[in-house]
Amino acid sequence: MEKLTESTLLVEEAAHFIETCYVELGKSEQEIRRRVAEIEREIDSTGSYLHTKEELQHGARMAWRNNNRCIGRLFWQTLEIFDEREAETEEQVFSAIVRHLRFAFNGGQIRPAITVFKQSDQSGMRIWNHQLLRYAGYEQGGRLVGDSSSLAFTKQCEALGWRGAGSGFDLLPVVIGEAGKQPKWFELPDDAKPEVAIGHPDWPEMAELGVKWYAVPLISDMKLEIGGIEYGMAPFNGWYMGTEIGARNLADEDRYDLLPTMAKIMGLDTGSQRTLWKDKALVELNVAVLESFAEAGVTIVDHHTAAKQFRNFEKIEEREGRKVTGNWAWLIPPVSPATTHIFHKPYKNDVVKPNYFYQQAPYGE
Ligand code: ARG
Repeated sequence: MEKLTESTLLVEEAAHFIETCYVELGKSEQEIRRRVAEIEREIDSTGSYLHTKEELQHGARMAWRNNNRCIGRLFWQTLEIFDEREAETEEQVFSAIVRHLRFAFNGGQIRPAITVFKQSDQSGMRIWNHQLLRYAGYEQGGRLVGDSSSLAFTKQCEALGWRGAGSGFDLLPVVIGEAGKQPKWFELPDDAKPEVAIGHPDWPEMAELGVKWYAVPLISDMKLEIGGIEYGMAPFNGWYMGTEIGARNLADEDRYDLLPTMAKIMGLDTGSQRTLWKDKALVELNVAVLESFAEAGVTIVDHHTAAKQFRNFEKIEEREGRKVTGNWAWLIPPVSPATTHIFHKPYKNDVVKPNYFYQQAPYGE
């Protein structure tokens, strides 16, 4: 009985996906009926089904289009899909990850991409990193060094035998394995971990801080869900919007906390909040990030341009007769939000599938 209802649900989800996907791909009613019937038979005999390459590709793109937190969705159709469902071992997964990083970085002209590994009903393997490029965080005698958001994962890596240099910007290894079992860890080759040194055109002292950030945001801990099938290992990347680094990673008090340092470099009076020294430092830190990426020839988008692109996305979606869902709190940029149109309108945070979802970490956090 349990099994029966589960299969019925899966058939429903699959049919719903195939209908939407195939209509978008311009396929006929007959093709839809044929494919749904085929999937039904497959679920009947195996309890699950496999996506065709085309379904996987369009499904992963739809998932980006449907992701309420992303301001960069205009480019959903450019997502490159690497089908690595054949990869069996941790080593094979790691090789695919290295290929993905090289493709994505592309000498600085960043290309959005996703690598899809086996579906979760076939393999419990997971990538343990939150992002494939991410800095370690250490507590050294009550003092925080590096990225506080990596504290728990860094401990995991150390327990596996990895040792960082103890700097503020140690790139973590890639950890792959079944949840609850001993995973394997791998060090990325140099050409697969591009970074950008951060400096400011008007304040050369900024560069002397040795602050940097990695070039490619590559989320590796979310699951991709398409037509009732879950892919627990489906790392994907876009390019950075400047504020992610300049207004959050480097600025948040519990991350790199650089606003006081920036204010000092700028010679600002930090004695009173009324001088708005934080705001001034914040803007210039963001200028530093954008200028440094541009100087290094690495793709990055400022929040005004990104908001405009998002408006374009909204227009196109409306024209296509699709509702744009969104999470307002995530879509507004953390710097000058009211200068973008997003701030001034409501968004419905409804979850439409295919989509990317959080999943339980494979290790205790
Ligand atoms: N906000 C995250 C970070 O700062 C990255 C999230 C994905 N960002 C992106 N532009 N695709 O690392």
